[in-house]
Amino acid sequence: MVETTPLTPVFGARIRGLDIGRGLDAASMAELRDALDRFSVLVFPEQRLDDAAQIAFSEGFGPLERTRPGAPGAGSPVVVLSNIGPDGTIAPPTDKQVLNNKANRLWHHDSSFKPVPARASLLSAREIPSAGGDTEFASMRAAFASLDPAEQAALRGRVAIHDFGWSRTRVDAALVTEAERGQHPPVRQALVLEENPHGPALYLGAHARSIEGMDEAESRALIDRLMALATQPAFTYAHKWQPHDLVVWDNRAVLHRATPFATTTERRHMVRTCVAGTAPTLAAAA
Ligand code: OGA
Ligand code: MN
Repeated sequence: MVETTPLTPVFGARIRGLDIGRGLDAASMAELRDALDRFSVLVFPEQRLDDAAQIAFSEGFGPLERTRPGAPGAGSPVVVLSNIGPDGTIAPPTDKQVLNNKANRLWHHDSSFKPVPARASLLSAREIPSAGGDTEFASMRAAFASLDPAEQAALRGRVAIHDFGWSRTRVDAALVTEAERGQHPPVRQALVLEENPHGPALYLGAHARSIEGMDEAESRALIDRLMALATQPAFTYAHKWQPHDLVVWDNRAVLHRATPFATTTERRHMVRTCVAGTAPTLAAAA
């Protein structure tokens, strides 16, 4: 049995008693997949992982996404979020890194702009700053459950357009190249995901541009209202990182965002893997 302690009354659990680097048996892995369905965010303290160990563990949740072209770690399953340069010292961020960091500070589901967006993400803290740099999560299942039944019924079956070029342009027009825009044309995603055995979830975040069948103003008002509902304190958890924490989240149940830290004087080195989705969100909703 894996030992779980809830992180908030609503979602999230801390898991102790496992040594992930040694590899887990099939029964423990099955329990963790269930725990991820149930809790949406799993925190594993004290896991000293190298990239190979993180990849091996991540694959226990399903096949991994390859990092998109143009991002650090492109072509491999590992995304490096770091301000440490190749010589081991704090590197002056490239313009692109600064802007990517800015984009990560908006509430999002990883890769919601892909036709089949990510199921889960795993982020390990190799080095953390002395202050700031928390990662925050918001429960989209709690948000959906808090709506009255009439509104739940009205939202079910709706389709949101997720548009990478649009959302990145909102952060900074210089952030997205024409090539990237071409690689990620707008995609249709279910507004309510029905795939979780413990209850439906809203699915929105920074890439959600509009709702099909609504005009722009009506779309924006609805998206903003649902995002504000989901990200209220009662439905959120702020993870204050300790070195060697590993955090796993269900992108189809929570939003997340990065928070600021002193990027030019403090070191932060994080490694992420992403478990691919097995089905488009619309198929899962149908
Ligand atoms: C991510 C992400 C936030 C952070 O890894 O997908 O959004 O705090 N990270 O680094
Ligand atoms: Mn992210």
